[in-house]
Amino acid sequence: MDMRMIREKLAEAGQVHLLQFWGELSEVEQTELYLQLQSMDFQELNSFFQNAMKVSGHIKEEKIDEKMEPVPREALGSVTRDRDMLKEWQEEGLLHISQNKVAVLLLAGGQGTRLGVSYPKGIYDVGLPSHKTLFQIQAERILKLERLAEERHNVKSTIPWYIMVSGRTMESTKGFFAQHNYFGLKKENVVFFQQGMLPAMDFNGKLILEEKGKLSMAPDGNGGLYRALGTQKIVDNMEGRGIKYIHVYCVDNILVKVADPTFIGFCVKKGGDCGAKVVEKTNPTEPVGVVCKVEGKYQVVEYSEITLATAEKRSLDGRLMFSAGNIANHFFTLSFLKDIVQIHEPRLQHHVAQKKIQHVDSKGQLIKPDKPNGIKMEKFVFDIFQFAKTFVVYEVLREDEFSPLKNADSQDGKDNPTTARHALMSLHHRWVLTAGGHFIDENGTKIPAIPSLKDVTDLPIKCEISPLVSYAGEGLEKMVSGQAFCPPLVIDETGIHQLVKNGL
Ligand code: UD1
Repeated sequence: MDMRMIREKLAEAGQVHLLQFWGELSEVEQTELYLQLQSMDFQELNSFFQNAMKVSGHIKEEKIDEKMEPVPREALGSVTRDRDMLKEWQEEGLLHISQNKVAVLLLAGGQGTRLGVSYPKGIYDVGLPSHKTLFQIQAERILKLERLAEERHNVKSTIPWYIMVSGRTMESTKGFFAQHNYFGLKKENVVFFQQGMLPAMDFNGKLILEEKGKLSMAPDGNGGLYRALGTQKIVDNMEGRGIKYIHVYCVDNILVKVADPTFIGFCVKKGGDCGAKVVEKTNPTEPVGVVCKVEGKYQVVEYSEITLATAEKRSLDGRLMFSAGNIANHFFTLSFLKDIVQIHEPRLQHHVAQKKIQHVDSKGQLIKPDKPNGIKMEKFVFDIFQFAKTFVVYEVLREDEFSPLKNADSQDGKDNPTTARHALMSLHHRWVLTAGGHFIDENGTKIPAIPSLKDVTDLPIKCEISPLVSYAGEGLEKMVSGQAFCPPLVIDETGIHQLVKNGL
């Protein structure tokens, strides 16, 4: 161990306090701390801190409201307003999938703090009849889509799945996939890679010790993706496979249409190099960021950054003017991603989040603060919208495509395991109705397709359809048309399972 060099590096960067307990550490602890410190570029970290603080102070002073413009109609596609185009877009997407040009990229490096679990969120079981985890649901959607593309174009199709994890989620995520045999996907088509970590700092830019011999570290945000794509040679891997289009999404949305061919087809047909899927924001105070233009460039403006007056503004058609709610589903061409990785990534500024950071004080006592005592720095996945040459936005229905798992059940009743489970089951319920089936209760009485008012608070009909049977409601007619089902109803590759089965 060359401690002299480390000491010098730390002294130059004003971080020498990190060695204050060196003499008290065991040999193993000393080696661990040495390895942590040796891998760090303290000058770079100091400049991240200074820039991030400058930008965040600047943002607070500046009013963004006056500079915001809504997404123009020509950049916008919509599942409701462009109904006649959907088939064409879907065909386009399926064609590219069949030609092995489409990959999916999952952002799964988050820590699931709000959900309160110590394991990766993708392993979470929201309590569906099948008890499938989020990872399994997504894997099966990929498998089904490969089969649909194959049926349509008579060639074997592969959609590689790139999964970004952090140092904290790597082993458990990889282990889970191996244990479940990659849910039927080929191991070589599931590529794990690791995002970076950054040290937490106090408000003066001093790195924080979480233990006497250990720095407090956190993942560098989902925008850490772009650095990791370069350092882990993922862009090269994509290029080697002939990938042209990438669908990037977050792990927590139980309804996510992984590699959605219609979204991909829309973006390609519109000539987009970068795109975002959004849902209509209908309530001005709903806490979602909105996709919009600021000084002519696309970005996501978080709800906390605008005034209520701006959030409440309406267009002539009565919709909110800033209604493009970001659901963290993005489309990129590989050439756009390459430019980001090679040219723009270093120019992206970190966002600052003030946090309560557990640390040891100068006496070596462990402190659990009750108010923020420092910052974590993160980049965001949508920070690169500004570099798009042709940015496109695709609006979908919330009830069909967006139900994120953020909180534990005991919290505010929003975005939790129960809401996620209900959203999936009511979507599948609607698929059965659309395909010509209906539901009856235990006495054989038909359950109305549109629930009466008193039923609104009732539990949804328990209905789950395996992604291996249907990706988005297709192909169900032959199984359910004209039939009555008594819930719980489960349709999977082995057949139809229900409580009682009656004829019409
Ligand atoms: C995110 C979006 C927000 C959107 C919302 C919809 C960002 C920055 N914000 O917010 O605009 O309205 O989803 O649900 O995208 N992750 C990593 N590495 C990290 C941090 C997070 O991979 O260092 C992953 C998580 O595993 C998760 C995703 O990024 O899959 C979103 O992270 P989360 O912190 O839950 O974002 P939100 O604040 O909910």
